[in-house]
Amino acid sequence: MKDFITTQDWSKEDLDSLLELTKDMKQNPKKYQNKLSDKSLCMFFYNPSTRTRNSTQVAAYQLGMLSVLNGIKDSWMGYQSESIKDTSIVLSNYYNAIGIRIFPNAVNWKYKEANRIVREFAKWSKVPIINFEDDQFHPLQALTDIYTIKEKKKQTENKKITISWAYHPKPLPLSVPNSTLLITTRYGMDVTLAHPKGFELDNEIIAQAQKNSQEFGGALNFSNDIRESYENADVIYVKSWGARSAYGDARKEKSLRMPYRDNWMIKSEYLDNTNKNSIFMHCLPIRRNLVADDETVDGSHSIVYDQAENRLYTIKALLYNLLND
Ligand code: CP
Repeated sequence: MKDFITTQDWSKEDLDSLLELTKDMKQNPKKYQNKLSDKSLCMFFYNPSTRTRNSTQVAAYQLGMLSVLNGIKDSWMGYQSESIKDTSIVLSNYYNAIGIRIFPNAVNWKYKEANRIVREFAKWSKVPIINFEDDQFHPLQALTDIYTIKEKKKQTENKKITISWAYHPKPLPLSVPNSTLLITTRYGMDVTLAHPKGFELDNEIIAQAQKNSQEFGGALNFSNDIRESYENADVIYVKSWGARSAYGDARKEKSLRMPYRDNWMIKSEYLDNTNKNSIFMHCLPIRRNLVADDETVDGSHSIVYDQAENRLYTIKALLYNLLND
C-alpha cells in the first residue's frame, strides 16, 4: 500500500510508470472504463477547489468508482471533535482510498501543520492517502506539471525552467512552488528559482532540490531579478507564495509583498526574453491582471488550459495505479 503525499516519497521509476500510465489514460480512455467499479474513494476538501475536486470526481466516475465528497462541515473531524486517528481508522474500513485537501485557512497558519495532519491520517489509515494539497506539497499538481512539460517539450533534460514568484493580493501557501521545484529537479531540468528577497523557500526543500539536481543531472540557480531570470527559458512557471518570515501574519506579510506589486506582475513583454517556443504555465486559479496580465494568460506561449486538462489524466492514472488489483 502506498500513500501519495509528496512525489519525493515515490521512486523515480514509480513516477515514470505513473507518467506512462497517464499518457495511455489520455490516449485510450475506453481501455480503462469502469476498471475500478468495485472501488470507492472518500474525499475531504477543507479548502475550496475547482480543478482537484472536479477532475478527481470525473476520473473516479470514468473508472466506475464511487466517490463521496466531504466538506468542512460534513464530518466530525472538521469540527475537531473527533480525532484524526478515529476518523482515519473508521473511514479506511469503508473505502479503498482517501484524499484530503487541507491548507492554511482550514488550519492555523503554522507551516507544515496541515502536512502533519495528512501524515497523521496516513499513519492510521489501512488504505492509501492521497494528498489533494496541504501546506507543504501538492503532488498531483507536480505530477501534472512534469507530464505537461514532457508532452509539450518531449524531454525534460537540458530544458530550462524558471519558477517565478509573482505578486498576489493575499499570502498563498508554499505547496506548489515546493512541489514544482522538487519534481523539476528530479527530472533533470535546468531550474532557476526567481523571487524577490525575503520570499525564499524553506532550507529543507532547497537542500532536497539540490540533491535531486546532483542525482539527476540538472542545475539549480537562484535569482532576484525577474527579467534576467526569464532569459532563454523554455518553460516559465508562475506561482505566487507568501513570505515565510511573516507566515500567519497577514499584515506584516503584505508589507513585505507590496513593494513588488508592479515589477513582479507578469507582463507579456517579459516573455520576449524567453526562447521562441517557450511555454507559460500556471496551476490556476490565477488572478488576471494582478498576477499576470491578460496578454500573458491568453497569449501564444500560454498552455494553462492544457495543463489544467491534464489534471484529469494524472489523477486517473494515480487511482488506477493505487487500486487496480
Ligand atoms: N491547481 C489546483 O489545485 O486548482 P484547484 O485549487 O482549483 O483545485
